[in-house]
Amino acid sequence: MKLPSRVKLVEVGPRDGLQNEKQPVPAAVKIELVHRLQAAGLKEIEVTSYVSPKWIPQMADNHEVMSGMQRQSGVRYSVLTPNLKGFEAALQDKPDEIVVFAAASEAFSQKNINCSIAESIERFVPVVEAARAAGIYVRGAMSCTVGCPYEGDIAPERVAYLAGLMKNLGVQHVGVADTIGVGTPRKTQAAMEATLKHFDLADVSGHYHDTYGQALSNTLAVLEMGVWQFDASVAGLGGCPYAKGATGNVATEDVVYMLHGMGIETGIDLDQLIDAGAYISEQLGRPSGSRVARAVLAKRVA
Ligand code: HMG
Ligand code: MG
Repeated sequence: MKLPSRVKLVEVGPRDGLQNEKQPVPAAVKIELVHRLQAAGLKEIEVTSYVSPKWIPQMADNHEVMSGMQRQSGVRYSVLTPNLKGFEAALQDKPDEIVVFAAASEAFSQKNINCSIAESIERFVPVVEAARAAGIYVRGAMSCTVGCPYEGDIAPERVAYLAGLMKNLGVQHVGVADTIGVGTPRKTQAAMEATLKHFDLADVSGHYHDTYGQALSNTLAVLEMGVWQFDASVAGLGGCPYAKGATGNVATEDVVYMLHGMGIETGIDLDQLIDAGAYISEQLGRPSGSRVARAVLAKRVA
């Protein structure tokens, strides 16, 4: 066990969390959510994506959100860019970090970004070059590293293969995602071990969806490997339109509660985070997906 003493959480609620919402969420609400998240102490926020509005209508207001929010010094704002067109649009809005995203499964790559894994890497070459030339940090996201909605189980060798491609591409950090939340601790560790063949411990993060209720256990399992960076989504928002039935990421509130309970620092104020989650849940008209938030909110009422 090599538990870290501090963990960095990347809040992906505004992007991963909201991209799947059927009803349009006003840009003003997304902006207010970002403001509340940074007030709660989140230092890295994945704000939006510059993808086709035909594919993901909910992210069509990317420019409005990025230009309308008030940036806080010390906070880094990241956005997804699947191709050069997306990157060029994103550049106008000055993100601190861009994310290129590929899949360990061929079928998911086709469904999500309409190309093969190899083609996606080719598409990313000019994006990564342009971003690095502009001094923008480049993160890679790897989907379906444990299981795929179309292909079933994904072997760690395929994750290692994709991680190698990402490394060659010049990606500075890579996120290892369980897109459909089917992973269990050992399998999730195996996907991370495969990634660590190509990336240092300081350059990897876990991104776990909670469809089968395993995300917190998977987070702990990977934490025990020394991994200290994780994506999480306030109120457990989210899912991916190309992974039907998959629910949101592990709730940020639940991860913070667990970490603080273990004496691990996050720099996040749990009460303010719960307020941010309550705000967005109210806007969406449904209860928070965070067990911790529900417990704390019920206690506050009592
Ligand atoms: P395509 O149709 O193959 O692209 O889509 P194309 O190059 O053939 O262009 C077709 C049309 O799209 C053209 O417009 C382009 O201008 C436009 P038209 O001439 O028909 O009017 N277009 C764009 N518009 C805006 N922004 C762009 C862009 N690129 C082309 N960047 C594409 C390829 C990748 C664009 C498409 O498949 C797409 O947008 N997919 C969305 C993927 C997505 O956002 N998925 C969810 C995020 S990934 C995720 O959630 C997983 C993650 O959380 C980790 C995990 O959990 O696994 C990260
Ligand atoms: Mg995701």
